[in-house]
Amino acid sequence: MATIYAVGVGPGDPELLTRKAERILRQADVILAPISRPGEASVALDTVRKFLDERRQEIILHQFPMTSDRTRLIPAWQEAAALIAARVAAGQDVAFITIGDPLLYSTFIYLLRIFRETCPQIAIEIIPGISSINTAAAAAGVTLAEAEERIAIIPATAGMDKVVEALVTYDTVVLLKVKPLFGELLEVLGRMGRGQSSVFVERVGSPRQKVLTGLAEMAGHNPDYLSLMIVKQPGSCL
Ligand SMILES: C[S@@+](CC[C@H](N)C(=O)[O-])C[C@H]1O[C@@H](n2cnc3c(N)ncnc32)[C@H](O)[C@@H]1O
Repeated sequence: MATIYAVGVGPGDPELLTRKAERILRQADVILAPISRPGEASVALDTVRKFLDERRQEIILHQFPMTSDRTRLIPAWQEAAALIAARVAAGQDVAFITIGDPLLYSTFIYLLRIFRETCPQIAIEIIPGISSINTAAAAAGVTLAEAEERIAIIPATAGMDKVVEALVTYDTVVLLKVKPLFGELLEVLGRMGRGQSSVFVERVGSPRQKVLTGLAEMAGHNPDYLSLMIVKQPGSCL
């Protein structure tokens, strides 16, 4: 039966792709890669390109605008879902590729909801990927959690009050989407005594990978969208 595969391709390093992801990507008839602007490179596609056969496989770049405006997002999700469903109905296997893991803050989550509502009979298989969080912790040599410790993952765009609440409550806080609020975040982390227990990781798993430790090092940096922070309690060893 033709199937939709949501394939997590990891953070950007082709060696951090699972063997199952590689097998499915080699076999699929259609690969759909998300981009946020026309003409933009797809990190997910660049990660897996060497496993694809562009003469045999159809490769579609689909634009999902980087906005919280649902009047722009919903049509993009619906268009992608329709395009995928049409190919599956024609007997083709479609792989939707996504950076990191498909069920962790990925566009695929919205498509999954549409498929479940509009065509619940369609076959969907989700292939987990190594998330940017695991890769960043490994690159920085920072523990995420041990023993009874608790960990929170929060997009900084959720708001500074939510970030502060998480920092007070959890032993480790992973902040995603730090770029838009970077200055404000550094200020809050400084005020909360986390200057020495914070690490910033950008473009992990790529040749542009950067790991910065301590607020002084981070202050002069203009972060990329693909960046995150891991914050531990004051006094913890990184
Ligand atoms: C929409 S979320 C996608 C998360 C992804 N599904 C995962 O499992 O890692 C995008 C955020 O993930 C983080 N991210 C994704 N890839 C990254 C990378 N290669 N290096 C650092 N952070 C990354 C950044 O915080 C970015 O703003």
